Amino acid sequence: MRVKNICCIGAGYVGGPTMTVIAQKCPNIKVTVVDINASRIAAWNNEELSKLPIFEPGLDEIVKDARGRNLFFSTDIDKAIDEADMIFISVNTPTKTYGKGKGMASDLKYVELCARQIARVSKSDKIVVEKSTLPVRTASAIKNILENTGNDVQFQILSNPEFLSEGTAVNDLLFPDRILIGGDNNERGQIAIQALVDIYSYWVPKERILKTNIWSSELSKLTANAFLAQRVSSINAISELCEKSGADVHEVANAIGMDSRIGSKFLKASVGFGGSCFQKDILNLVYIAKTYGLNEVADYWEQVIIMNEHQKNRFSNRIISTLYNTVSGKKITFFGWAFKKDTNDTRESAAIKVADNLLSEQAKISVYDPKVEEERVYADLEYLNSRNPDDNRELLTVQTNPYKASKDSHAIAILTEWDEFKTYDWQKIYRNMIKPAFVFDGRGILDIKKLEKIGFVCYKLGSGN
Ligand code: NAD
Ligand code: UGA
Repeated sequence: MRVKNICCIGAGYVGGPTMTVIAQKCPNIKVTVVDINASRIAAWNNEELSKLPIFEPGLDEIVKDARGRNLFFSTDIDKAIDEADMIFISVNTPTKTYGKGKGMASDLKYVELCARQIARVSKSDKIVVEKSTLPVRTASAIKNILENTGNDVQFQILSNPEFLSEGTAVNDLLFPDRILIGGDNNERGQIAIQALVDIYSYWVPKERILKTNIWSSELSKLTANAFLAQRVSSINAISELCEKSGADVHEVANAIGMDSRIGSKFLKASVGFGGSCFQKDILNLVYIAKTYGLNEVADYWEQVIIMNEHQKNRFSNRIISTLYNTVSGKKITFFGWAFKKDTNDTRESAAIKVADNLLSEQAKISVYDPKVEEERVYADLEYLNSRNPDDNRELLTVQTNPYKASKDSHAIAILTEWDEFKTYDWQKIYRNMIKPAFVFDGRGILDIKKLEKIGFVCYKLGSGN
């Protein structure tokens, strides 16, 4: 079967870039990305490419190439579903905030709404592809809805999880380590799998396209994120030990990473992993294990989250104790708010929790991030609901210039590893700060020796003396 028309429901961090790359690589397939969020769709259609709803290096160029040719962004969801042979579900699957599984399970209401809409609208056979990250066995729920509420058309369900990382999404999509496709083992299932394989084959080498059963595919996505996050928590646990013992976590990471069995990637100690998925997906894994009665399995993975929370609290506690056990009324500058460099995404960023802890101690915070907007910072804090939103606005300001942000501050905390922080005139920053001037490098990116020479008192996460 040859797919001519693709619809993707969800124009977010995954749907937008993923479909843009498919459209660019497959000029003979019409790709329509739809969303209920009209302002997001309008932003994707904005003539000014700097106003796309998400910032990803290199994305503007490929949007420019494909948009209006065979790539379209629309709010007419019914029409796009009706016309498509293949429909990707790429909607958000956040942690549930209510009812059974609250705080752990994935909230599948958006996925279910998509399935119901697809069932209602479809008048011809469709392949439905799970692109969102979903609990293992979700495909059977989707199948049930499609088959019991549809118009007697045939649906094939595939799992095709996405492994891109924000900040490197375009590169990850163009040169993926692997593409994973899970589907039914019967003839129809195999035809559907092949249809999706044919699309990726336009640019992905065949040996990188893996075919599995649908449950393996769903579970592999959660497992991959759990393993990645586990590495960060593992090195972060060692960072605390380094500080006590006089070892240096960067040297330890380098030494263990040269063992080819361990590998060097994902061993950067940090103030804690953030992002929309690691925590959500591990919590989901823990919840699934618990529902199967696998308590030891659940406890094992939960520890990755516990360690991550500890790391964030440990960092804010370190700032407080170093500043003579009180930060009340003191100005602390945050360099970075995004959860990692090269993205404007702040979901679950460690900066939010660190700021919240310091604001509870009545610190004054000044935030500078090259890509994050002022209102996003306030919205992140309000979401935590720790204090009156007016108090957040009184205690915390967001600046668009790093030198202005750090003027008259007692300390600077590095929360995101943006490259530009390394290029600043640190002498000038030092001159304008209150003395003693402190730097807390939560990302291990600055040349501490150089800063100490200038006069700063430095803390580099994971470095003992
Ligand atoms: P997102 O919140 O950026 O985008 C989801 C979009 O879906 C939103 O714009 C929302 O308005 C839209 N939506 C929700 N319900 C809808 C409906 N019924 N009809 C039409 N549109 C609807 O989320 P995201 O970051 O793109 O993540 C999507 C999924 O992909 C999640 O399951 C996530 O775990 C997974 N994932 C994310 C990443 C990442 O880097 N962000 C990477 C891999 C996988
Ligand atoms: C992660 C995975 O890397 C992707 O494969 C996956 O598709 C995605 O989640 C998802 O499912 O959403 P992402 O969250 O975009 O991607 O970014 P990462 O590069 O994985 O970073 C996550 C967090 O871990 C960031 O806060 C980052 O700063 C932190 N991190 C990462 C470290 O602290 N140390 C490291 O060595 C690596």
